[in-house]
Amino acid sequence: MPQITMILLTLFFFFASTAGTLYQTADQLFTKGGLNLDNYEFIIVGGGAGGSVVANRLTENPNIRVLLIEAGSSEFDNLNIEVPSFASRLTGSQFDWNFTTLPQSGLNGRSINYARGFVLGGSTAINVMAYCRGSQDDYNRWAQVTGDEGWSWNSLQPYIHKIENLSSPADNHNITGEINSTIHGSGGPVSFTLPGQLLPTDELAIDASNELSNEFPFNLDYNSGNTIGLGWTQATIANGRRVTAASAYLVPAMLRPNLDILVNTQVTKILQSNIKDNLPVLKAVQFLSIGDKKIYILEAKKEVILSAGAVKTPHLLYLSGIGNLDHLSSLGLEVLVDNSDVGQNLQDHPLTTLSWTVNSSNTLDNIRTNMTLAQELLHKWNKSHTGPLTLGPGNQLAWLRLPNNSSILEHYPDPSAGNTSAHYEFIITDSFVSFSQSFPSEGNFFTLFSNLVSPSSRGNISLNSTDPFAHPLIQPNMLDTEFDIFTMREAIKAARRYMQANAWSHWIIEETSPSAKAQTDAEIETYIRNTCFTVNHVTCTVPMGKKDIAGKGNGALNPDLTVKGTLGLRVVDSSAFPLIPAAHTQVPTYILAERASDIIKNKYHF
Ligand SMILES: Cc1cc2nc3c(=O)[nH]c(=O)nc-3n(C[C@H](O)[C@H](O)[C@H](O)COP(=O)(O)OP(=O)(O)OC[C@H]3O[C@@H](n4cnc5c(N)ncnc54)[C@H](O)[C@@H]3O)c2cc1C
Ligand SMILES: *[C@@H]1O[C@H](CO)[C@@H](O)[C@H](O)[C@H]1NC(C)=O
Ligand SMILES: *[C@@H]1O[C@H](CO)[C@@H](O)[C@H](O)[C@H]1NC(C)=O
Ligand SMILES: *[C@@H]1O[C@H](CO)[C@@H](O)[C@H](O)[C@H]1NC(C)=O
Ligand SMILES: *[C@@H]1O[C@H](CO)[C@@H](O)[C@H](O)[C@H]1NC(C)=O
Ligand SMILES: *[C@@H]1O[C@H](CO)[C@@H](O)[C@H](O)[C@H]1NC(C)=O
Ligand SMILES: *[C@@H]1O[C@H](CO)[C@@H](O)[C@H](O)[C@H]1NC(C)=O
Ligand SMILES: *[C@@H]1O[C@H](CO)[C@@H](O)[C@H](O)[C@H]1NC(C)=O
Ligand SMILES: *[C@@H]1O[C@H](CO)[C@@H](O)[C@H](O)[C@H]1NC(C)=O
Ligand SMILES: *[C@@H]1O[C@H](CO)[C@@H](O)[C@H](O)[C@H]1NC(C)=O
Ligand SMILES: *[C@@H]1O[C@H](CO)[C@@H](O)[C@H](O)[C@H]1NC(C)=O
Ligand SMILES: *[C@@H]1O[C@H](CO)[C@@H](O)[C@H](O)[C@H]1NC(C)=O
Ligand SMILES: *[C@@H]1O[C@H](CO)[C@@H](O)[C@H](O)[C@H]1NC(C)=O
Repeated sequence: MPQITMILLTLFFFFASTAGTLYQTADQLFTKGGLNLDNYEFIIVGGGAGGSVVANRLTENPNIRVLLIEAGSSEFDNLNIEVPSFASRLTGSQFDWNFTTLPQSGLNGRSINYARGFVLGGSTAINVMAYCRGSQDDYNRWAQVTGDEGWSWNSLQPYIHKIENLSSPADNHNITGEINSTIHGSGGPVSFTLPGQLLPTDELAIDASNELSNEFPFNLDYNSGNTIGLGWTQATIANGRRVTAASAYLVPAMLRPNLDILVNTQVTKILQSNIKDNLPVLKAVQFLSIGDKKIYILEAKKEVILSAGAVKTPHLLYLSGIGNLDHLSSLGLEVLVDNSDVGQNLQDHPLTTLSWTVNSSNTLDNIRTNMTLAQELLHKWNKSHTGPLTLGPGNQLAWLRLPNNSSILEHYPDPSAGNTSAHYEFIITDSFVSFSQSFPSEGNFFTLFSNLVSPSSRGNISLNSTDPFAHPLIQPNMLDTEFDIFTMREAIKAARRYMQANAWSHWIIEETSPSAKAQTDAEIETYIRNTCFTVNHVTCTVPMGKKDIAGKGNGALNPDLTVKGTLGLRVVDSSAFPLIPAAHTQVPTYILAERASDIIKNKYHF
């Protein structure tokens, strides 16, 4: 034992930029990592929200050796990742896969950028950090559609708590009245907190909610199980810095000798290692380091766990011969398992923005328009991790439903999970933001995002090429249904009603163009279709369903997340959601992966 420890410590100092055994190329792993090569119990593909949790939890047992393979780099301590308000610099950067969608007929034929994280931490390293568990109805519906009570809100409570470390905001202000601390965990790996800098719009937003409390009631904590109402934003930020799946789950796990992490390496296929009970056993992974010409193969003793995210997990399953028979055959791929739900059922949240000019020269726009100020604030952040650069998404979120007597609900089935799940969300922002216009070089603004969080549109992921490095075809079918366009339109009207509150009257001057010109239903619809973007919540593309029932619509996975029709292969990431929660999706992924880790530990008794 001491000898092994010595060798591992040497490797640690040799390769690691942070700690633990971190390999930058497959070549390094094969020449220096001989100890573990044939002895990994689990090989995890992808170090994002799902994969990081599993890598951490499984290696809590020192006898379980795990290899985590990540396509992106290990540079999650990059300044642009760490400074919360630099989030907008990350999409389209070296940390993004840079996917784009097919042209969307619901968006007037536009293709949109479809960001996914390409670095340890995955999309949690490039996201906007909103911390949202989802509603009790969201999880109770998961339990219902999978027939597994373990996915219900009540059953998941231990996992929901286990994740959390409620921390103080960067400015240390008193958070009484901004969150219900009693329902949150402390001491878990994911630190999160309230806004680290209070803004002049905060009081106005809360006052407007109190004034119009019938429609926009105040909710002390949208993470209580009932999301409905307007309240303070919780975000994966602590000590003024972004918290990622890598910083929360991998950094502590890297101190363990039984976790190896290989970065800059893309898994290209899962291979069949043998056949058992007439089912293919898929425990071997084929991979290639970036810039390397060699193909490597390693076999896990127990399982391969796919955590490549909702775009790449179905892509890898297709490449491995698991998917719809006709689709695979049309590409000339050998069909190992005809599993029609792979790549189907894609769900995502569209969003648009409305902006107003304001009667103030004190908004966050100044950081964008005044370089002297921007430098000063970065200097402040560098020194103390405080100030407005510690801010993540807007300081308040609202989760709202259509009225019960809304005309659409008379003839259209309600796609939301229940009365504790929203149909749409507002994000309240003290500056200009738009997905269709460039930033004005001067002026002060207010922006309200409207997000459709219970969509009924369904899309898919498919392949155009069997080249594992070619991007898959992404068809979200955004705003494809009558319900979705109706609800987006109602969300915009509701946003304008909210902004009519007296509380806003001295702050707000007027709505900006082009949205200001969109007044009739037809004009609002055109504005939406011309400007809608994505909240970057692609999920549900390898959905779980009821146990052992095959066939289209019954789910690609069993409720324990094993891939139907296979042995040795499991999916633990946001592609496994059967339905998208009416929430931002990183925390639901953490919750799913925490339970998945226990399911795996129980199966193998460790
Ligand atoms: C711009 C943006 C903003 C967002 N904002 C928020 C927000 O504010 N709040 C929130 O809750 N959620 C937000 N999200 C969504 C949230 O981050 C994701 O839902 C969540 O990270 C999904 O977790 P995952 O494990 O499924 O995938 P990911 O976290 O994306 O992880 C997948 C990992 O697998 C790796 N990988 C993929 N293919 C391979 C391969 N072949 N071989 C090896 N590795 C591979 C990827 O590089 C990546 O690291 C946002 C996402 C984005 C992109
Ligand atoms: C995404 O685009 C940026 C900017 O062009 C580039 O630096 C980066 O390498 C691209 N990402 C990948 C995974 O290729
Ligand atoms: C929890 O948060 C507190 C306050 O930010 C911090 O001191 C502590 O280290 C965190 N715990 C973990 C496990 O990260
Ligand atoms: C925070 O404010 C509440 C309510 O005003 C008060 O009861 C509490 O003592 C304060 N907490 C701290 C740590 O000051
Ligand atoms: C906080 O949550 C607990 C548990 O649900 C509840 O009993 C309590 O009333 C809540 N507190 C407030 C101030 O809403
Ligand atoms: C820009 O910011 C600096 C530093 O805060 C300030 O002194 C200056 O007046 C600002 N300039 C303008 C044009 O507002
Ligand atoms: C802040 O820190 C970064 C990284 O340490 C450095 O590159 C940058 O110059 C610093 N900026 C200021 C304004 O202090
Ligand atoms: C709809 O009715 C339910 C049940 O009475 C209630 O809880 C909910 O608040 C109502 N929704 C709206 C938007 O008024
Ligand atoms: C819904 O009910 C409200 C009052 O309860 C009423 O003002 C409104 O007109 C009704 N809307 C529809 C579409 O029936
Ligand atoms: C919400 O409550 C109303 C009124 O009780 C009910 O008619 C409706 O079905 C509920 N909605 C959902 C999605 O459960
Ligand atoms: C994906 O969806 C599109 C349009 O909704 C459909 O034409 C196509 O056949 C689907 N592809 C697969 C592989 O399911
Ligand atoms: C599909 O592949 C062909 C041939 O490689 C390419 O020309 C075409 O642009 C691809 N289509 C899409 C939508 O990526
Ligand atoms: C702008 O705010 C000032 C007070 O700060 C107020 O006197 C003035 O009436 C406001 N102007 C508008 C157009 O609301």
